Amino acid sequence: MARVLGSLLLVAAAGAFTVGATPAAPRAAPNPLARIVPAPASVTPGGSPYRITRSTAIGVDGSREARGVAEYLADLLRPSTGYRLPVTTQRHEGIRLRLADGPFGAEGYRLDSGRDGVTITAAAPAGLFHGVQTLRQLLPAAVEKDSVQPGPWLVAGGTVTDRPRYAYRGAMLDVSRHFFTVAQVKRYIDQLALYKINELHLHLSDDQGWRIAVDSWPRLAAYGGSAQVGGGTGGHYTKADYREIVRYAASRYLEVVPEIDMPGHTNAALASYAGLNCDGTAPPLYTGTDVGFSSLCVSKQVTYDFVDDVIRELAALTPGRYLHIGGDEAHSTSHADYVTFMDRVQPLVAKYGKTVIGWHQLTGAHPVKGALAQYWGLDDTSADEKAQVVKAAQNGTGLILSPADRVYLDMKYTEDTPLGQDWAGLVEVKRSYDWDPGNYLAGAPSSSIRGVEAPLWTETIVTNADIDYMAFPRLPGVAELGWSPAATHDWNAYKVRLAAQAPRWDALGIDYYRSPQVPWPAK
Ligand code: ACM
Repeated sequence: MARVLGSLLLVAAAGAFTVGATPAAPRAAPNPLARIVPAPASVTPGGSPYRITRSTAIGVDGSREARGVAEYLADLLRPSTGYRLPVTTQRHEGIRLRLADGPFGAEGYRLDSGRDGVTITAAAPAGLFHGVQTLRQLLPAAVEKDSVQPGPWLVAGGTVTDRPRYAYRGAMLDVSRHFFTVAQVKRYIDQLALYKINELHLHLSDDQGWRIAVDSWPRLAAYGGSAQVGGGTGGHYTKADYREIVRYAASRYLEVVPEIDMPGHTNAALASYAGLNCDGTAPPLYTGTDVGFSSLCVSKQVTYDFVDDVIRELAALTPGRYLHIGGDEAHSTSHADYVTFMDRVQPLVAKYGKTVIGWHQLTGAHPVKGALAQYWGLDDTSADEKAQVVKAAQNGTGLILSPADRVYLDMKYTEDTPLGQDWAGLVEVKRSYDWDPGNYLAGAPSSSIRGVEAPLWTETIVTNADIDYMAFPRLPGVAELGWSPAATHDWNAYKVRLAAQAPRWDALGIDYYRSPQVPWPAK
């Protein structure tokens, strides 16, 4: 009977017709394997579904990390199922997380689902974690709710074999233009994890606010962090706050990439310490939204003492590999000064054991070996500027792609979008998704493309609801560009999978933009 039911459910899942198990107990079809976002590398539906019940346990074989992922899964499932879901190393019917050698890479996994259980196998804990996100999407959207729901909790039968296209799949949050609390950042981290994003870039300093405590330069946070766009009191992260963000991100298999933007975008630092200014005079704090008016003083030694201290303290707080030094829109720094500054600052990043990331203007200076450049141009950025980036890529600089007219989450969707900006154009959902990182910059070697990142600048973004509205539904599309094989790229198929995410966002309290380009289910 279970086998027959399984195949009927698969037919139902394919959309041919819907069917209940018995007239007395109608059952919903489980979510089809083919509906995951980001699209997995390979999906083979078949066999009976697994049903999570009161007696389900989550089995792990030993390692502390695998147990951590199992506890995360149990915490996710307990409130809505109401089940105990013990994590156990005993053999038990149910869900199993296994670390084993296999062709999974650092982040891939295999998920096998059938009548007797669901097994996720990976070579590393990150793979188990991403497999858990897939399992989560295979369960009904109601699983995301924080109170007991009726179920049934069916997982379609079959196998998903999956690994990412790109190693770097990022999202940036600008916590400078408006400050966001640790709790707000954690909420965003949880949203990112659902779509297998693995890098959280925090834009920690800009003209309007310095957001990270630096013991050797305490006025940066205490004074430089005391404003934001439109006024207000701003805020900053203590070192303990920042460590908590790093810890929480790591528990969701995201690496934190801290950015100190230099030599421009530095008014908050210049306002905090008069000595950093070439004329020795501190400007006032800034609460507007202009760019390009501030610069560190390239000719003063104190500038490099300052940068050394900041990088040393930030590197010591950051277990991740990268330190982002900004370098965009340095319109108040001469080109010669910009090159001098970057020649002196990049080695400081290496001195403290980190790898440089800079906005792509860094390619106009001398990117150090191993540096990554983050491209934020547009389709119609000048051929010369693109050629400069492509040449750097040909010479070994890795690229993170964040084309502003595709993946800047602060761009308005349409003229009527109440939030956001439009300097890079209007970016509807299809436009955001419908490009290929693999052939976006003609001439850049494919090995130079390390991945994609969706920045969210926050001049107009203040609340969680604001973040949700601009990130959803574009963020999952960027995640898919980073994760899924190019062969799966298809807007018409994607928009259907994307639409199927909406009930999950509703259950999670994510207030998304109901783009007319996407066939959303009726509310
Ligand atoms: C940027 O948008 N200025 C990197």
